[in-house]
Amino acid sequence: MTIYLNGRYMPVEQAQVSVLDRGFIFGDGVYEVIPVYSRKAFRLAEHLRRLQHSLDGIKLSNPHSDSEWTQIVEHIIEQNAGEDQYLYLHITRGVAERDHAFPKPPVAPTVFVLSKLLKTPPPELLQQGVSCISATDNRWLRCDIKAISLLPNVLLRQMAVEAGCAETIMFREDAFLTEGAASNIFVIKNGTLLAPPKDHLMLPGITYDVVLEIAAAHHIPCEIRRINKAEVFAADELLLTSSTKEVLAITHLDGQPIGSGKPGAMYQRLFGLYQDYKREVMRP
Ligand code: PDD
Repeated sequence: MTIYLNGRYMPVEQAQVSVLDRGFIFGDGVYEVIPVYSRKAFRLAEHLRRLQHSLDGIKLSNPHSDSEWTQIVEHIIEQNAGEDQYLYLHITRGVAERDHAFPKPPVAPTVFVLSKLLKTPPPELLQQGVSCISATDNRWLRCDIKAISLLPNVLLRQMAVEAGCAETIMFREDAFLTEGAASNIFVIKNGTLLAPPKDHLMLPGITYDVVLEIAAAHHIPCEIRRINKAEVFAADELLLTSSTKEVLAITHLDGQPIGSGKPGAMYQRLFGLYQDYKREVMRP
């Protein structure tokens, strides 16, 4: 496995980062996860735009131009096995003596890129859907930043795992839907696709955008608005989206069936359209 670290390509075993790295000490950094299909990065421009938004959010200057990022990403894809890969980009505020305030003068950021094989959900999961639990969203108020400090998300996801479930769906103030621990959530009611707004309370998902674009192109009615907890439990269908899970049906929430308790018609349709879209944009 070849990784990129601070300007160099090397086997992952050789990569080393100082224990004084602010990513290690404070979780002071941001990241991206980019799927690669047929050796091409999916929606790279959009991922790089979101990376810039995250960097701006933590006041860290972008170590690379978009064309430099593109070169790094293409080289990493080329150096690693697999037609379909999962790219992880990670930037921290660098190595400095421990002090909460930013290092003055600034130090070089730590830049790390890794690729592994992309494992999208297996056919059984696509057919059966997944069960989720609900929890109060106890994260900070800048969830639009893709920060590497993920402890709340880690604990929330672990709650789902311990309940034998795939994901935790979060509600702010125990009242309205935000997102999953590592995914966005859509609600389907009476043929309309409902989605929470891309504000500071959720990560603006790249997959979320693709799903809404596909829905608009196929004249599926959509509403972007706050969705209350009762609406989620009374949904006809619930969907989970992310770069690695793509589009997945949620069939149970806190042990209660959603709609029929089986992946529904809107899921089937959007899943198919998502796969068609991928094939279309990834065509050489
Ligand atoms: N997570 N919300 C959160 C909190 C996430 O961590 C993610 C993705 C998403 C979906 O975003 P996208 O469609 O751009 O993948 C929403 C990635 C996959 C991760 O942390 O591994």
